[in-house]
Parts: sequence; structure tokens; C-alpha cells
Amino acid sequence: MSTPKRAGNEPIAIELEKDKRYAWCSCGYSEDQPFCNGAHKKEGGIPIVFTVVEEKKAYLCTCKLTKTPPYCDGTHKV
Ligand code: FES
Repeated sequence: MSTPKRAGNEPIAIELEKDKRYAWCSCGYSEDQPFCNGAHKKEGGIPIVFTVVEEKKAYLCTCKLTKTPPYCDGTHKV
């Protein structure tokens, strides 16, 4: 996998729905951040598909350097 592109400087808050499948962009090239739009097929990388067991607000990483994808771990501040 190639080095991800930094897509943003702070996380995006999203209201996640229970049992819905989400695809978080790991390559950073999606124009639909923080979600995958298929740009990885050209740029390299694969999305991380995830669900949540209950509705919740989450902060999804856009710097693509988090160690807890798809969630922000504060790395963007470094
Ligand atoms: S567009 Fe980035 S992982 Fe799909």
C-alpha cells in the first residue's frame, strides 16, 4: 500500500447508524471524506469497512495517520 494522502487536519464528526456498513477511506484520495469513493482503485490502498452495534457520534480520522482507524486518535495534532 502506498503512503496515504493527508485528507484533512482534523477529524470529521459523524452520527453513525447501528448496523449500517461504512467504508472509511484509508488512502486519503476520496473526495467524499471520511468515506471511500473508489479513488483507491487508482491511487492504491483499500477502504476499512466497519459497522457499529449502536447509534453513536464518532470522530473519523482524515489525516490518515491514526493508529485506531477509522477513529481519530489525536495523531493529527502531532
Ligand atoms: S477512496 Fe480512499 S480507500 Fe477508497
